[in-house]
Amino acid sequence: MTCLLLLTLFVFISPIYTVFTYNATDDMALLFETTGCDSQCRFNASEFSLDTIDLWPGNCSTVCAVLKFTSSSNNIPYEKLKSTFQNLNSLRGVLRIENTTLTNFSFFGNITLISNINKNVLSISNNPKLTDISVLFTITNIYINYPVQIMNNPKLDVFPLCVGENFLDFDRFYIVNNMKDCGCTGSIINNANIFAYKNCTSIFGPTEISNATDASMFSALSDVRNITGPISIKNTNFQNLSFFSKMERMKGDDSIVNLDIHSNPNMTRLGFESLMDLYNIEDWFRVNIQDVHPDFCLTMEEMQVFTTFNTKYVKLEAKYCNITTRKDGQKTCVFESMSALANDCVHIMGNVVVSSGDEHHTGKLSKVIRIYGSLSITNTTLKNLEFLGNLINVAVLNDTSPAILLDSNPDLFDISLLSMRFPYTSGPNAVVVQNNAPNIFPNPYQCHNYQNAVGAYVFYNRAECDWVLSDGDYTEIDTGGSSQFSEKKAHQNCGVFAILICALLSFVNI
Ligand SMILES: *[C@@H]1O[C@H](CO)[C@@H](O)[C@H](O)[C@H]1NC(C)=O
Ligand SMILES: *[C@@H]1O[C@H](CO)[C@@H](O)[C@H](O)[C@H]1NC(C)=O
Ligand SMILES: *[C@@H]1O[C@H](CO)[C@@H](O)[C@H](O)[C@H]1NC(C)=O
Ligand SMILES: *[C@@H]1O[C@H](CO)[C@@H](O)[C@H](O)[C@H]1NC(C)=O
Ligand SMILES: *[C@@H]1O[C@H](CO)[C@@H](O)[C@H](O)[C@H]1NC(C)=O
Ligand SMILES: *[C@@H]1O[C@H](CO)[C@@H](O)[C@H](O)[C@H]1NC(C)=O
Ligand SMILES: *[C@@H]1O[C@H](CO)[C@@H](O)[C@H](O)[C@H]1NC(C)=O
Ligand SMILES: *[C@@H]1O[C@H](CO)[C@@H](O)[C@H](O)[C@H]1NC(C)=O
Ligand SMILES: *[C@@H]1O[C@H](CO)[C@@H](O)[C@H](O)[C@H]1NC(C)=O
Ligand SMILES: *[C@@H]1O[C@H](CO)[C@@H](O)[C@H](O)[C@H]1NC(C)=O
Ligand SMILES: *[C@@H]1O[C@H](CO)[C@@H](O)[C@H](O)[C@H]1NC(C)=O
Ligand SMILES: *[C@@H]1O[C@H](CO)[C@@H](O)[C@H](O)[C@H]1NC(C)=O
Repeated sequence: MTCLLLLTLFVFISPIYTVFTYNATDDMALLFETTGCDSQCRFNASEFSLDTIDLWPGNCSTVCAVLKFTSSSNNIPYEKLKSTFQNLNSLRGVLRIENTTLTNFSFFGNITLISNINKNVLSISNNPKLTDISVLFTITNIYINYPVQIMNNPKLDVFPLCVGENFLDFDRFYIVNNMKDCGCTGSIINNANIFAYKNCTSIFGPTEISNATDASMFSALSDVRNITGPISIKNTNFQNLSFFSKMERMKGDDSIVNLDIHSNPNMTRLGFESLMDLYNIEDWFRVNIQDVHPDFCLTMEEMQVFTTFNTKYVKLEAKYCNITTRKDGQKTCVFESMSALANDCVHIMGNVVVSSGDEHHTGKLSKVIRIYGSLSITNTTLKNLEFLGNLINVAVLNDTSPAILLDSNPDLFDISLLSMRFPYTSGPNAVVVQNNAPNIFPNPYQCHNYQNAVGAYVFYNRAECDWVLSDGDYTEIDTGGSSQFSEKKAHQNCGVFAILICALLSFVNI
């Protein structure tokens, strides 16, 4: 029985990532070109052995090296290793430990930093005695998300690396055949191999669910909590993905689509009941929902996750589900009119219309944090939007109208929305401001600041920010285009400033 199981595993599970390959010659050549590497503090050999050990610049605390241990490193005495590396604090380059009989890396007693500037593959492979790589759990990585390959180390528990802080900003893991891996390795999952995923709590690596016809079998995935790497679900007859109802976190990869759901003609619901965190290390988390059932809908909680993390879409062919209660019990109102609206709504479903005569009802919106639908404020005598101070998001589905429309309010001069982040519409303009008090934005800079604050592009008096009318003329200013915002900053760099950049970027990408 075990044999059969093993056999079937070998037959059906073939990861989409293959082993990360590297060319050591090229990596060495690149190292020699790397600026800032002091040639006196560079390890010039491609392998570390008794023949090359004397080339190690033992007096340097920072050494540039593609430091590779192989079977020819096996006969170096431990004390010799220890004295050789005692001054090494910082490795500019990468570590490769392959085919050795090492049991641990404790001879790297003082290393605290890896600066893998060329993002070379880190490889720890085929080391039958290796039990302890804890030095990797404590080092700081200056360059993040380089490929990490750890395989065929039968005595090694790699799990702490996958959930630890030091590799938090990594998702390119190929970690298989160790005593304990990070989780299950993604592959093309279908009716024939789904049983092998029975006990998975996390999946690493690109994953595809396709050509699957028996949704009940996919309850095998119902323990999955974390997915690291892109996932696509296509060509199924699934009605929903409720087998992922315990999934909490998805971590994306690069600039590709991270959650790709298409060609599932019977799918009407997502069913991600527990999802709370979407993250992509160096780019936006991208979603595609396309060619699903015409009734396909998202719950307000699902959309709330998408807007919180400012997800980008290829297609989002969805409407809101007609569900007006929330798991967290917060009060949800269905909008009919401002006069009929309750006083204590926290969420509103529907298109909120504030128009002439509604001015004295606006206090009813003061507790509202999210609107699932659009917000339009037109023909009022309002002067500011203070009553929307708690409003975090407005997201329009199945409609191309602006998420926020402020039109024909002659006294409206202060349009600050203090809590607003990432209003969404599938149409071209998330925020449209026109025909209000003059000079809401006296110049393009103030318009840009507003865009940055709310995290969406603003269409102001029928023009983009760069064309804001000032002193009676249209002036185009050179803001340097958008090319300066070419890459989303990683979490740890994402202070206020980066969030502003992220906000602008949201429209640059996709
Ligand atoms: C590595 O790259 C060099 C030059 O770029 C090439 O000559 C060599 O054949 C490559 N080695 C392998 C194993 O692909
Ligand atoms: C490495 O080689 C370069 C020349 O290619 C030489 O200048 C440098 O001194 C060497 N570094 C060490 C530590 O031997
Ligand atoms: C390293 O430093 C020691 C003491 O400062 C010195 O004696 C030795 O020559 C140095 N070695 C190299 C290779 O520079
Ligand atoms: C390690 O061993 C494997 C299999 O024996 C071999 O294919 C590979 O080339 C070896 N790698 C190194 C770096 O020696
Ligand atoms: C770390 O550095 C200190 C001082 O330079 C040295 O005494 C000690 O032996 C080093 N530790 C290891 C494990 O190399
Ligand atoms: C799942 O876990 C159960 C109980 O530990 C075990 O019997 C079964 O073989 C596991 N299935 C797989 C596919 O690992
Ligand atoms: C899921 O990810 C979180 C955060 O990284 C981690 O704390 C948790 O242990 C992971 N769960 C599993 C089952 O891997
Ligand atoms: C889909 O599955 C069926 C039966 O399970 C198989 O005959 C067919 O070749 C598969 N199609 C693709 C594209 O994999
Ligand atoms: C989709 O659902 C309909 C009715 O529920 C069913 O007749 C049809 O076979 C399903 N399509 C697929 C591809 O399973
Ligand atoms: C939404 O559901 C309610 C009852 O739950 C029903 O009265 C209403 O007609 C539904 N609306 C739509 C648009 O289906
Ligand atoms: C404002 O009111 C006028 C007259 O009542 C109406 O014609 C116009 O369409 C309204 N504008 C907006 C934007 O609602
Ligand atoms: C709204 O949904 C309907 C039915 O699914 C679809 O035909 C229509 O194209 C959608 N409209 C937009 C703007 O997405």
